[in-house]
Amino acid sequence: MLQDKVKLNIDGEKVKLHTKNLRPGMYVCELDRPWEESPFLMQGFELKCQVDVEAVMECCEYVYIDVRRTDVLSMTLEAPPVGFLPEKKFSSLEGEIGNAEDTRKQTSDLIKSFIDEVRFGHSLDIQLAKSAVSECVASVLRNPNAMMLMTQLKKKDEYSCQHAFNVCIYSIILGRLAGLGGKDLEGLGTCGLLHDFGKMTTPVEILNKRGRLTPQEWAIMKQHTTQGRKILLSGKNIFGGTVEVAYGHHENLDGSGYPRGVTESQLSLNTKIVAVVDKYDAITSPRPHRDARDHLHGISVLTKMAKNRQIDAILANRFINYLGVYPPGSIVEWSSGEVAIVLESNPKQRLCPQVLVVRDSDKNPVERFVDMGKGACKITAVHDTGAFGIEIGQYRDAILRAMS
Ligand SMILES: [Fe+2]
Repeated sequence: MLQDKVKLNIDGEKVKLHTKNLRPGMYVCELDRPWEESPFLMQGFELKCQVDVEAVMECCEYVYIDVRRTDVLSMTLEAPPVGFLPEKKFSSLEGEIGNAEDTRKQTSDLIKSFIDEVRFGHSLDIQLAKSAVSECVASVLRNPNAMMLMTQLKKKDEYSCQHAFNVCIYSIILGRLAGLGGKDLEGLGTCGLLHDFGKMTTPVEILNKRGRLTPQEWAIMKQHTTQGRKILLSGKNIFGGTVEVAYGHHENLDGSGYPRGVTESQLSLNTKIVAVVDKYDAITSPRPHRDARDHLHGISVLTKMAKNRQIDAILANRFINYLGVYPPGSIVEWSSGEVAIVLESNPKQRLCPQVLVVRDSDKNPVERFVDMGKGACKITAVHDTGAFGIEIGQYRDAILRAMS
């Protein structure tokens, strides 16, 4: 099903792409016909502008892109796929943000209670997780940007809880992009929510270690996959998908992962989806041993891992394309020096999102809602989470006010 929807294949360093998906910034290294039969003089060239793109579209149905010579930004400018549009009623961000906040709180409370249950050696009731996730699915299908904002409320000391929530939400979004719906999304979100519960048995001094792990510590860390499997197998109302994903989310398609070293054909779609979004969230979240890396770093790592056949290239590209250049929660700076938090992208102007300005040009605190699609402001920089002391969680009320 997914293969039919996304005609994209990675072959080593090359990506096969339908010409309707070409963007300026991509490097064309091979055509669907001999170069001699094309009007192009150079056997390999960068698409510098839309005119170049249209010239290729005129003579070819598909081409190959050299990923190493392609600007990563050009991979992110595609509008969200039509298939993502919610099935029923689409809420505005203003209409959804309050629901999203309530759902985030309820889900976080459930995760915290589950963490306690595991620490006390009690079994988990997976049906409770599924019920909480069904609310997350409903919110994402009404308006994914509200939940996307909730994923940005990242704090170092709450990593386990926030990571479980974020992987749940990102999994639902990527599952939707892959064509899943209803109960499948609930199951997938539950897999995302519980994928790392094995870490509750990992010693805290290893989980929170600031330096590099020793080989012995790393071996213990890796056991969270087998421990997770064990915990979820002993739960009430077992759901096989969660067991499979907890066990398999660190496996790589080429067999280089752990704990079993299995390859692509032995990994479920749920496992492949969680593997992609787990890596993105881990990279872009603050950790005990390092600060959060920014969104562009996150997607460049995903691109590299897809090229190396560690993660599924089709899913990774879908996720990258969906996130775009400035996903909700990004901290951006304007040419004026003002700094803002991205709230929602404008579908027709993805480079001009709606934002909450939180620093003036002297970097003094302010709070002002601006729709960049209606003004002349220009983004000149994207900053890491936490830049200028901006903790998005502190702006939760201001965001709710700006949206109401
Ligand atoms: Fe993990």
